[in-house]
Order: sequence, then C-alpha cells, then structure tokens
Amino acid sequence: MTIKKNQKMFFPKLKKNKIIIAQDEVESYFRNIDLSKTKTPNLIRGYLNQNEFPFPKLISDYLIKKIKSKELGYQPRIGPKHLREIISFYENIKFPANYDKNDIILTHGSLDGIERVTQLFNRKSEFIVSLPTYGDIIKSVLTKKGKLVTILTKRQDNFNITANAIKEKINKNTAAVILIQPGNPNSKYIKKAELEKIIKLTKEKGVYLILDEVGDNFKYYYEKINNKLHFWLPRNITSWNVIRINSFSKGLGLAALRYGYIISKNPLIIKALGLFSKGNPTPLPNEAIYIFLFIKSFYEIYKNKLDINLIIKIISKNSPKFLIKKDVKYLTKRKIKKTIYNIYNNEIKMKKERNYVLKKLVLNKNILDFIEPDASYNILCKTNYSKGSMELFKELWDKNLVYIYPGIAFGIPDNESWIRITYANPHEVNREGLNNLFKFLDKNN
Ligand SMILES: Cc1ncc(COP(=O)(O)O)c(C=O)c1O
Repeated sequence: MTIKKNQKMFFPKLKKNKIIIAQDEVESYFRNIDLSKTKTPNLIRGYLNQNEFPFPKLISDYLIKKIKSKELGYQPRIGPKHLREIISFYENIKFPANYDKNDIILTHGSLDGIERVTQLFNRKSEFIVSLPTYGDIIKSVLTKKGKLVTILTKRQDNFNITANAIKEKINKNTAAVILIQPGNPNSKYIKKAELEKIIKLTKEKGVYLILDEVGDNFKYYYEKINNKLHFWLPRNITSWNVIRINSFSKGLGLAALRYGYIISKNPLIIKALGLFSKGNPTPLPNEAIYIFLFIKSFYEIYKNKLDINLIIKIISKNSPKFLIKKDVKYLTKRKIKKTIYNIYNNEIKMKKERNYVLKKLVLNKNILDFIEPDASYNILCKTNYSKGSMELFKELWDKNLVYIYPGIAFGIPDNESWIRITYANPHEVNREGLNNLFKFLDKNN
C-alpha cells in the first residue's frame, strides 16, 4: 500500500520522534522472522519460557485446566477480587504499604497500563520521560497527543534521573513523570532516597509519578542500612500521586498472555481507570497466577532467611488460609517444592549468566564502559565502534553475527555506540553472541 501525498497522517508526532524512528528501523529487521528460532545468537530479547528458563509446571497445568473446563467467559473489568487480594499481599511484601484489593486493577500487560493511565489526562498535558527509555513509553505519550518532555540523563548517574533534573522541567502543564524502575535499558534502580525526593517533589507540584516496574525481578541489588536489608520503596510510595504498573511478562515470561496490573493508593485513579477500561482482562491465567503468587510471596519473604524445605512447610501450612478448599487439596507439598525449585533454579541460572556476561565485558578491550545491572536481564554497554550503535546493529545483523539492540533506539545519542545486551538466554547463545561481537569489534573500530 502506498500513502498518497496529501493523505493526512494520523500520528504526525510519532513519525517525527527520533527514538520511534530508530525503534521502528530496528524492528523492521525482525518483523517477519521468529526471533526465538533464529540460528544467529539473539541477544535482543530474553525468552523466559525457553527450556533454560521454564515457567513452573503449575502454571501450564492451570492454563490447560482452564481451557479444558471452558471457563473462558467474561470477568469483572477490574479483575476478580481474589486475584487483586493476592496481588496486594505480594506488593505488601516489597513494602508494608497496606495495599488492598481496592488499590489494584488488572490490565492487558504493563503497556496497556501505561496507555490507560496517560489517557486519563487531557490532550495538552505534558509528560516528562527520562532518557534512555524503552521506546514504547514514548509511543504511549505521543499517541495520546500528549506533549513529550524528555530529559537526557548522565552516565555518571548510571543513566538514572534525579529530582533536581525533574524540578527544572516541571511547569503548570506537567501532568506526570513516567519512569521505569529499574530502568530499561540501564537495569538500575533509582535509589530509595532519590525516589523519595522525586515523589515529594512531584506531590508538592501536583504532578503524578507513573512507575513502570515490569523489570523488577531477578534482583541483585539491595540497599543495606546498618547491615540490614531494606525495602527499595520509600515510605511516601503510597502518596496520592504515585501510580505503579507491573505485569507478569518479564518475571514469569508470560508476555503472550497480556496480563498485568496497576496499583495506587489513590481511589480516584483506580475508579477512573475502571471507568475507562477497554474490555475485560482475560480470565485464562487467573488461577495459575493466583496460586503462583501465593507461593512466590512466601518465597520472597523467607528466601534470604530460611532453608528451602522450611519455606515449603510454611507455604503448605498457610495454604488453607489463602486458597479455596479445592486448591488446598491440589497443591500438594510435592507441587510446592517443584514450584519453589523452579523459581530458585531460574534465579541461580540468571545470576550465572549475568556474571558470565559481565566478566566477558570487563575483560574485552573493545568494551569501553558498561552499567552493572541491579535487576532484570539487560546490560547496557559502550563499544568502541566509531559509526554509532544503529550502524553496529545493522552490520552485526547483516553478517548474521549477533542480534543486539542499539542505544539510539532508547534515546542515547549515537556519537557513542552504546548497545543493550539481553542475557536471559542459553549459555551457548550468550557465549557465541559475545564472541561474535568481540571479533567484529576487533576488526572494525
Ligand atoms: C520498560 C518496559 N515496560 C513495558 C514493557 C512491556 O510490558 P508488557 O508485556 O507487560 O506490556 C516492556 C517490555 O519489554 C518494558 O521493557
């Protein structure tokens, strides 16, 4: 199809945005291929449900069960009560914020959450987004005809935004600040004290703070105060202006199911989101997620304190308190054990790959800089390639050497060649991918 010369474009702002153009260029390369099945080492996206990082059998069993019993009708637009209850329980582990079922609404994944929240504001609103960022965040703002205000962060701040930088950009039209926590592509958390400042500032200015927490898993970073592990969330996270968004796409690898949630202590926000909900969430993963989150919650509470067998016992003892009778019977100790070991093994494997990739980057002379990830499974690193990250991406792609994501598609200026490497892959893929990258850089810098 060709676009006629005088035909009005529906998304003029999208077409002009540099990050969207770069993201589109990258994605045009893999639009028509199945990235999970290519022979070329693929370090573009992690695939959590591949053999190396399987999701618990409990989940697949429940999904199949649900289809077989044909329970695939509609459910409440905000999601069922029991599920919102277990999500609030899980969230209260990260921080004792007293979240309850009324603070939560289910979405079709995180991106739907972000789009729905941005839709709540009027069209002329300004949204502050820090760069580098995941391109689809920018799309969410621009497709709502909002005004995008970007702030390029600094390498010395690990590409994280500061309260001071935000302060300079806030004006009377600012509706919200949208941040990714931990960041994508930089995989760094905004530290607790700084986040506290950002919440305080935005609250004072009457501005919302939207936090995309989809990467908040496989965590390696804990703040220690007096040698005690502390929650990363600050006390004022429950302020009226904070809207947190998450999904099961990354931590569980269930992106295909489009299942996420928004959490906020602001009843007006939750009510408005309910009113503007576009269709009911799919009921398919309900039970699978419900049982899994029940297990995962207890695992998170005790994983750094108790032996796994003891955790299994505690979960089994608590199941009548949380689950309906039928599920208590179904969830045998053996099933709990398998699920816990599945989570544990994935974490161990992910950590091993993380450390392996980091070590290879440290030792290679073509890698000039890198950001040590706090969580998730992305590493942002700077290569010595002189023609910019987009050119590097294309060269590596065309020569079938390795697939990586160029920094320019996250908004990093291309006078430096930063790239994002995703390491949620089989070890062999990471090894071959890095070797091919290094060999190419040896010859081309
Ligand atoms: C920061 C960020 N937000 C949102 C998403 C999309 O999440 P979901 O599949 O839950 O819509 C991604 C996916 O890569 C992401 O990196």
